[in-house]
Parts: sequence; C-alpha cells; structure tokens
Amino acid sequence: MADLYPVKADVAAKARIDKNTYQQLYKESVENPDAFWGKAAQRLDWYTAPKTIKNVSYQLDDFRIKWFEDGELNASVNCLDRHLDARGDKIALLFEPDSPDAPAKGVTYRELYERTCRLANALRSLGVKKGDRVTIYLPMIVDAAVAMLACARIGAIHSVVFGGFAPNSIADRVIDCGSKLIITADEGLRGGRKIPLKANVDAALKIPGTTTVETVLVVRHTGGAVDMQAPRDRWFHDVVDPQPAQCEPERMNAEDPLFILYTSGSTGKPKGVLHTTGGYLLYAAYTHESVFDLREDDIYWCTADVGWVTGHSYIVYGPLANGATSLMFEGVPNYPDTSRFWQVIDKHQVTIFYTAPTAIRALMREGEAPVKRTSRSSLRLLGSVGEPINPEAWRWYYEVVGDSRCPIVDTWWQTETGGILISPLPGAIDLKPGSATLPFFGVQPALVNAEGEIQEGATEGNLIIRDSWPGQMRSVYGDHQRFIDTYFRTYPGSYFTGDGCRRDEDGYYWITGRVDDVINVSGHRIGTAEVESALVSHPKVAEAAVVGFPHDIKGQGIYAYVTLVADEAPSDELHKELVAWVRKEIGPIAAPDHLQWAPGLPKTRSGKIMRRILRKIAENAPDQLGDTSTLADPSVVASLVEERKVK
Ligand code: WT7
Repeated sequence: MADLYPVKADVAAKARIDKNTYQQLYKESVENPDAFWGKAAQRLDWYTAPKTIKNVSYQLDDFRIKWFEDGELNASVNCLDRHLDARGDKIALLFEPDSPDAPAKGVTYRELYERTCRLANALRSLGVKKGDRVTIYLPMIVDAAVAMLACARIGAIHSVVFGGFAPNSIADRVIDCGSKLIITADEGLRGGRKIPLKANVDAALKIPGTTTVETVLVVRHTGGAVDMQAPRDRWFHDVVDPQPAQCEPERMNAEDPLFILYTSGSTGKPKGVLHTTGGYLLYAAYTHESVFDLREDDIYWCTADVGWVTGHSYIVYGPLANGATSLMFEGVPNYPDTSRFWQVIDKHQVTIFYTAPTAIRALMREGEAPVKRTSRSSLRLLGSVGEPINPEAWRWYYEVVGDSRCPIVDTWWQTETGGILISPLPGAIDLKPGSATLPFFGVQPALVNAEGEIQEGATEGNLIIRDSWPGQMRSVYGDHQRFIDTYFRTYPGSYFTGDGCRRDEDGYYWITGRVDDVINVSGHRIGTAEVESALVSHPKVAEAAVVGFPHDIKGQGIYAYVTLVADEAPSDELHKELVAWVRKEIGPIAAPDHLQWAPGLPKTRSGKIMRRILRKIAENAPDQLGDTSTLADPSVVASLVEERKVK
C-alpha cells in the first residue's frame, strides 16, 4: 500500500474545488462536454462568443478536432488588455536575474501591455502579418514573454526555440516552418556563463534553406559584442522603442494557430506541435487556476524555460490569462550556490512553486542545510512536472522544502496536450507520492493491453485518452497526416500518449515512462533517432544505436552504441570528440552520458536493430535479455555484454 496524504482540512476549507465539487464537475464534464466547456469558455473575453463548443471525431476517415470554432478572440487581449482596469498596476511578470546581485524587476500589467503593443507594431512595420511564422530564440527575460504576446496580438504564429539548442537545431526549426523573422538577444546568461545566442543565429542562417528569414531583431541583454549584418539584423530597441504603445489586436478565430513548438518523437526530425488560440488558452488558464488553486495575491513561480511547453502554458499564457503574478527566473538552481531556489522564494515571498523532479533530485543530493537556512514560510503549494517523481524525492520535497505543510501537485501532461491532464487538485484529491492521481475535467484516460483492448480496474498498460479536451494539439505543422498517424492510428478512436501507466485500486494513475523511442532526460524529450543521426553524420561513424538508461539525477540518461567505419579504431579522444559532436549538432541536452564501442549491433534477420536488448545491456541487466533467437548474429550480444562489464 502506497502512503496516502489526505487533503488537509485547512487546505480544503480555502480551496476553489473540494472533493464533492471535483466529483460533480468531473461527471458533468464527461457526460455533457458542450455544457461544461461552454460555461468554462466564459472565463475568456471573446469578440464573438462561441456557439458551437465541441466538434471532434477521432475516426480516421472523418477526422477533426475543433473547439469553439465560431468564436473569435485574441490571446494577448486576454492576457493583458482585460486586466488593465482592475490590475493595471499589479505585477504581471517578476524578473529574477541570473546573478542575485543584479536588480530584480517587476513589470506591471500596464507596462507589459505597452511593451507588447510596441513590439507588435514593430513586427507589423517589418511586414509580419497574420499567419506568418516568427522564431523566438531568447533567454529567460521579460522580452521573451513580450515576443510571444506580440506575435499573438497580430496573429503571427510563434515558434520558440529553447536557448540551449545549437545552430543546426535552430535551422531545422526555421526551415520547417519557414520563419520570416527571428527575435533573439546578444547573449544569454546562465550560472554566470554567457550563451552566444546571436552568434548561434548567425551560424544557423548560414545553413542552406533558411533564406525565408528577412529580419533578425536583437535584444541588447548582456551588452556583449555581436556582428550586425545590415539590412537583416536590427537592434530590438531601435525598432521597438519609437513605436506607439497601443496596437489594434487581430481578431482571431478560436481555431487559428497560436504557436508551433517543436518536440521530439520516436522517428525523424522533431515535429512542430501546433496549438490553436481558443481551446489552448482556455485550457491553460483553467488548469492553471484549478491545479494551483490560484488566489489573487499569489506569487507564482514555475522554474521552466519558455523554450518548453511548460513555460508557454504555465509561465506565460495560463498565469497571465488569469491575471496572476508570474516569476521568470533567468538562472539555474545551483548558482551562485545550491540555496538559490529557496533564497528566491524568500526574496519574492513565493507562494506557489512548480519545478521538475530532476532539479529536486539534484538539490536533494546537497542535503538539507542549503534548504534549511532559508525560511520558505511564504510557500503554500508545490508542483512537479516533466517526468515521474520517485517517492523518495517526493517525500524530500514535501518534508524538507515544504515543511510538511504544502500539498504537492504532480502534474502529468505533454507538449501535445497543451495543459495538465492528470494531477491532484490540492483541495480535492488525496496525495500518493509518485502518482499523478486523477484526471482533470473532461479528460478520460484509459489503459490498453498489447492487443489494444481497454482494461478496467487496477491494471497496467499503455495510456490513451478516449476523447478530446480543448488544449489538445491540432496538427503537426506542415504534416497533418503525421499527426493522425502518430497519435490516432495505434488505438483507433483514441489519442495515444506514448506513455506506459499503472492504475491502482483507487483509480489513481502512475505514469511509468515512455513506451516509444523517446528518452526523457531531465524532463526534456530527446528522440533516439535524432541522436543517432547526429552520430552517423560524423565521418568516422558507420552506425549508431541510442537508448535510454536509468540515471540518478536526470531520470533517464542517453546511452549510445557506436560502430566505427572500417579503418577507424576506438580511442578516448574519439569518444570525447563524438560526445562533443552531438552537443554541437543538437545542443548540450542531447550529449550522450555513456558511449560504448560496438563492433556490431544486435539485429533481426531483416536488419532491424533490437533496442530492447540494447536497453537491457545499458541497464546492466544482461540476465534479462529475453528472447534472442531472432537475432541474425547472436554472438554480437555476448561481445556487447562483455564490453559493458569492463566499464
Ligand atoms: C512526457 C512529455 C509536460 C510538460 C513537460 C514535458 C513525461 C511529464 C510527467 C509526470 C510522469 C511525466 C511523460 C510525457 N511526463 N510529466 N508528472 N509524471 N511523467 O513535456 O517534453 O512533451 O514530455 O514527459 O513521459 O509523455 P514533454
């Protein structure tokens, strides 16, 4: 029996949603989605309120996902304009810089509105129109949110590329969506180290195929030297500052695209997950309010980067649509020391703190002292996201960080889902360490066995979602068929998450991890195929196979098996060179943690690499290899196992 942490009476008493309300609303949401979501939609400001609420079919021959299809709204208006009367002087974004010695800055809703309008006008003046794509490659600074909101204001589709990605990865994403303009900064700053963002953009734009980019707007952030290439490159302040502080918003249909965000899949290049305006914004706002039990005076801090979906939904769109104060942190958890998170919480009196298990595990390793020398008395709620949280880390988070006072919401969701699908609601759902617990309103999870049959009761299987929710992605940018094939073909009539999951006797969900060829490294998705193709692009590599393996801090690490071309021999230098090569090709997050020379790879007679076997070898569990009888050359396995033992 797993531990149970019942909802505390004082939490329940103040909560927006208690046990009865959850049960009642959940029932209503699945029995009558039109009534439920029609009412929920009233939390947004619409130019034209939607009359048609849900129009969804997961049938392959009649496929459609539409929510609020006759409604019209603008996301930036919902995040800014409508708060001006009541909250114009309230802090919308609280910026905490990389260095604690640099000044923190509070940006009010009115200032954010004006900055957004100026940039929106500037973008229009540079010829950016509704439907055009804009790439945002910025550090965690207020201008990143301004850039997203300015695109939303004029109906341009933003594609935020995480600042840790390398020039090749920027170029792939720019080419895929045909960006017209890039917004970047001179440099980023993380843990005292400078990241050459503008130089990376320069390198990306030398790659053939990136010629759609007409303009690069450069924010002066660190003041570091950059090359400015006229007429392409323009200083952000030169173009933006002279613009008027009002900007007529574009009226968007609810189903008009809001943004593209690239994420790794099991095959090929990252796919451009496309989210639309009405359903996404509503779902981000509603889940943010409910899961974090939001109050007007909360200081809310999500430690994600805006380069990931968590930053989109739960730093920018959800919190701002709700009129909240959202903290943006430029730095890292261990700079200048491992107390930083907790010091920032005290400094800004943070009430809600949302982070990833990998950060918790890394800080747990430092012991209690760095936590205990801070107060953290402002905290009332903790959150976790990105990967399963192991019960040991959960308890440390609960007891040491939250002083056994704050509920933890373990929120399961994906880039594709737009917002949280399975999570506790703090006033309504008893907690179990390691379980994301129960579904949000309108979400119908189910578990299927290997034959694709839905299993009832306490069981384990692949996690599917049986019906749509408003925040669901609508397409893979430029490849709608890939969208349908990836998510709706495996289990007809349902959305396939790619995750394995267990359900216990109380109906609680326990995510067990990816069941496809995606590795979850520190809460970030890396496709094994991407790392493999980076490796084989090195002239000395003949073949590569990449799998995930359990990693104490990162959750999963990257394990690469490499076969060299005929006349090359393994060496420590080549080992280093290949790891550095992947960093340079994709970005530091994709660098293999472990690289093993493989004279041969285990393949079936038809030539398919048997990853199941490679995973077991990487896990150091050669006694669990299972059936190897279908291998073309079984001796390959023995030599890999032998080699692994040597390490
Ligand atoms: C994958 C999605 C959700 C935003 C950040 C990651 C894993 C995410 C949890 C959780 C167990 C989780 C899943 C999922 N995951 N949250 N609370 N418990 N696993 O978004 O990069 O799209 O990755 O992250 O495996 O499929 P993403």
